[in-house]
Amino acid sequence: MTRVKLDWVAYAAYQVTDLDLMERFLVDFGMMRSARTETALFMRGTGAGHHIHVARLGDSSKFLGAAFTVATRDQLERAARIPGASPITAILDPGGGERVTLTSPNGHAIWIEHGVAKVPERTIRRSYRMNFASEHLRLNGTVRQRPEATPVLRIGHFVLWVKDAASEVEWFRTHFELVPSDYICAPGDPDPIVKATFLRYDCGQEYVEHHCILVSESKHFGCHHSSYEVLDLDAVVAGHEHLVSKGWTLDAGYGRHYLGSLIYDYWLDPFGNRIEHYTDTDLVNDDYKPVHFVGEAHETTQWGMAPPPSFFD
Ligand SMILES: [Fe+2]
Repeated sequence: MTRVKLDWVAYAAYQVTDLDLMERFLVDFGMMRSARTETALFMRGTGAGHHIHVARLGDSSKFLGAAFTVATRDQLERAARIPGASPITAILDPGGGERVTLTSPNGHAIWIEHGVAKVPERTIRRSYRMNFASEHLRLNGTVRQRPEATPVLRIGHFVLWVKDAASEVEWFRTHFELVPSDYICAPGDPDPIVKATFLRYDCGQEYVEHHCILVSESKHFGCHHSSYEVLDLDAVVAGHEHLVSKGWTLDAGYGRHYLGSLIYDYWLDPFGNRIEHYTDTDLVNDDYKPVHFVGEAHETTQWGMAPPPSFFD
């Protein structure tokens, strides 16, 4: 069966009990309102995606699913041929387009979308170059960064909690052009048992971000976190200080991960969902050799505020 070529993560969707509260947090996190209805909030970044975060009003808080875009209708039609897929249906949300709804083996909703409206990109500052000891990249230039809501550029990845990671990974790899980048294994096992798999877009020799999905075996069900790219290190720290000043709840950050090497900063939204700013991720291609990482949660951090042991529950 021919696999579906995914273009990019479109958004993560959550059910929440208060859209005003969610919007207040997401604005401080660096997103902008794209559209709002009586029952849903659509937030965008500075990129052309109509929305990168969706919150739908309900009587409880939970993860609803995640969406990818595909570049052509042919790819959407291909998605509709995946066993169990819905027919292609019109999207009634702001931005329109068409979608196929899938349910993963562990029960997550995955939407494949095409033809959703684009929005004009927002102008942002240039990334601040750095003057390294051995390489000077900022000549006659300055850094002028105040603590502020750091503009989110786009969504980069999300992490699924599942009961059975092997079946979930197999499903993603069977039906989509995705390939493993690295594995996290449980410590203490004589033969390491894979508990989590980082998947990236399978683009051969083309360099792509280290992961767009992490599938993680857990006693929980839902989304461990969704993650949004910001411009550079100054943007991460400025955003961190802004969120501190607004009294939101820090989860872990900032720091630099081991796998993928991202600089991260994890926060909790008002409904307890973990949400991440990231920058400076590894870019890899077919020449990259996956590693089987065995260790505890804090060992996935190279420097900075490490996540608590419960991070991997
Ligand atoms: Fe992440």
